[in-house]
Amino acid sequence: MYCTKKILDDLYWVGANDRRLAMFEGVYSVPRGVSYNSYLLLDEKTVLFDTVDKAVGPIFFQNVEHVLNGRKLDYLVVQHMEPDHSATMMELLLRYPDVTVICNQMTMNMIKQFFNRDLSGQSLIIKDGDTFTSGKHNFTFYSAPMVHWPEVMMTYEHEDCVLFTADAFGTFGALNGAIFADEVDFDNEYMDEARRYYTNIVGKYGEQVQQILKKAHSLEIKMICPLHGFVWRRKLESFIDKYVKWATYTPEETGVVVAYASVYGNTENVAEIISSGLRDRGVKTVMFDVSVTPASEMIAACFQYSHMVFCSTTYNAGIFVSMEEFLRDLAAHNLQNRTVALVENGSWAPTSGRLMKEILSPLKNVNILNESVTLKSSLKPGQEAEVEALIDAIDRTIPKFEAPVIDEKAMADAVVDPDVFKKFSYGLFVLTAKADGKDNGCIINTGVQLTSNPNRVTIAVNKANFTHDMIKATGMFNLSFLSESAVFGTFKHFGFQTGREVNKFDEHIPVSYRHSANGLAYITTGANAFMSCKVVDSYDYGTHTLFVADVVEAGILSDEPSVTYAYYFAHIKPKPQEKLEEERHGWVCKICGYFYEGEELPADFVCPLCKHGADDFERVG
Ligand code: FEO
Repeated sequence: MYCTKKILDDLYWVGANDRRLAMFEGVYSVPRGVSYNSYLLLDEKTVLFDTVDKAVGPIFFQNVEHVLNGRKLDYLVVQHMEPDHSATMMELLLRYPDVTVICNQMTMNMIKQFFNRDLSGQSLIIKDGDTFTSGKHNFTFYSAPMVHWPEVMMTYEHEDCVLFTADAFGTFGALNGAIFADEVDFDNEYMDEARRYYTNIVGKYGEQVQQILKKAHSLEIKMICPLHGFVWRRKLESFIDKYVKWATYTPEETGVVVAYASVYGNTENVAEIISSGLRDRGVKTVMFDVSVTPASEMIAACFQYSHMVFCSTTYNAGIFVSMEEFLRDLAAHNLQNRTVALVENGSWAPTSGRLMKEILSPLKNVNILNESVTLKSSLKPGQEAEVEALIDAIDRTIPKFEAPVIDEKAMADAVVDPDVFKKFSYGLFVLTAKADGKDNGCIINTGVQLTSNPNRVTIAVNKANFTHDMIKATGMFNLSFLSESAVFGTFKHFGFQTGREVNKFDEHIPVSYRHSANGLAYITTGANAFMSCKVVDSYDYGTHTLFVADVVEAGILSDEPSVTYAYYFAHIKPKPQEKLEEERHGWVCKICGYFYEGEELPADFVCPLCKHGADDFERVG
C-alpha cells in the first residue's frame, strides 16, 4: 500500500524509509534508520527526481504508481548515481519504458558501468546551466561535482523556488511520518545526525561544497529537497549557515574533544584529569573512548568543536589500533583550523605521540601544541605539572570574556521597580487572527522587528488569550499599529474581554476594519498601519509563546504617530477616580483598572481582564 507525502500542489515525496539497515554504505551505523527520498512532479509532463535503494523498491513503486494515477511517466532526472538512489532505475525503466532519462554525460557513463545498459536512445544529456521545462515548471541544472560523487548535479525549479540538492542537506534517520524539518524539533533531535551525515559523507569535499553554496547564493530558495532526511521549507538560513561552517571547516563552537585509546585504564585516567581540569577552567569538553564509540560520531564531534586532545597508548611500536584507524579517518575527511594536544603512553618505548603528530601535521591550519604528556605505564607523582601545563596551554588558546566581579550583597539588596517596564518605548497593537471563520483580536505591546532580510517580526502572546490559540493553530496573524488617536474604548473592546465568550467583530465593534489578502481582519480606526504575518517558528516561554513570523503584506493607514506604552498611560487610559479609590479597599490593576476586593492580593494573581500579573496591581483604600 502506498505511503506518499504532498510537498506542493503538484509535487509529491514518493520515497521510503529503511529502519533495518545496520550500516549505511557498509560503514556508518544508522540506529535511527535512513530515508531514501524521491520526488514526483505532476506537470503537463510527469517528472521523477531520482529513484531509491533496492531495499525499499517495492513501496517506492507503489508510491510512484499511486501518484501517477494512470498517467505515464515522462522523465526521470538522475542527479546522483550512487546505488542508494539509482539501484531501482532499471526496474523503473521496465515498468515505464517510455520514460526519458535526463542526466549529464558522466551519469550516462556510470549507468553503463552499473547496469551494462546503453540508454542513449531514451535520454536527454544536459550540462551545467542547461534548462528544461515540464509545462508550468522551468528548471535549471547545476553541476555539483564531489557532493558527493563527481557526476552529482542539483536541480533548481524556478516557479516555486525549489532546490533539489541530491545528497546535500540530507540527514541520517528515518522520517517517522513527518516530511518537513519544521514538523520536528530538528535542532535538538536531528542536528547531530545531520552533522554526522554531512561530515562523514561529504566532509572531505568542503571546497566543492563551498562552490555549490556560492552558486546557490544567487538563487531565491524557498524549499530544499534532499535525497535523505527532511524537506526544508522554513528556517533554511540556519541550516545553510551550518553547511557554510562545515564546508569551510569552521568550528561551530568552542570546546574540546578528548578522545583516548586505553588498554588498562592508565591513559584513560589522564584523559579524565585533562577533561576535568578544562571543565574547572570553564571549558566545555566531550569525551570518547575510541575503542567503543563509532568513528562517524567522533568525526562529527571534531567538526563541531574547536579543540582536540588525543591520548593513545603505544601498541606494537605504533599507535593503538582503534586510535590510528580513527585519526587516519579524520585526516581523510580533511579536517582543518583546529588546535590539538597529544598524550602518549608506552611502558618501554612510547612512540604514539610522534606517530599521531605525523598523521595530523599535514592537515591545513591545525595547530599541534608543543605541550604534551608522555606516560610510562601510568601517571606518576610529580607529573601533575606536565598535565597542568598541557591544560593551561589549551586554555590559553581559547578566547575568554571575563565576567565582571559580582558584589553578592549588592545583588541581594537590588530591587526591580515594576514602573521601569513602562519606560520601554514599545508600541501597542491590535493582534488579530482568524480560525473556523471567526475573526478575533487582543491588545499586545510586544511587536518587534527581528530582521529586515527577510522581513521578520516577533510577538510574545499570553497563552491565556484566545487569539494565542488561534495563531498557534493557523500560523497567521495581523498587527494593527495603534496611533495616538486610538481611544480607550478600542483598548477596552479588544483587551478587557475574551474572544472565547464574545464575538469582538460583531455589530458592536467600536472601530472600522478591513480584511487583508490573507483573509484576516485589521482595524482602520485609531491605527496608522497594518501588517500580515506568517509564523515560521515559535518558542515556549511558560506563560507566553514567542512567535517568529515573516511579513507577507504591510500597508500605511495614516501619518499619525504610533502610540507608545507611556503615551497610553499618560493620555488614553482614564485616571483612577480618586473618590472611588477612597471608598474602596483592595487592589486595582494599573493596566486596565480591574478592581480586586480584599486585603491580600495573591502573589500569583492574574488579572482576569488584561492578564497582567500581581506586580501590575496597586493598593487602594
Ligand atoms: Fe545518498 Fe551519495 O548517496
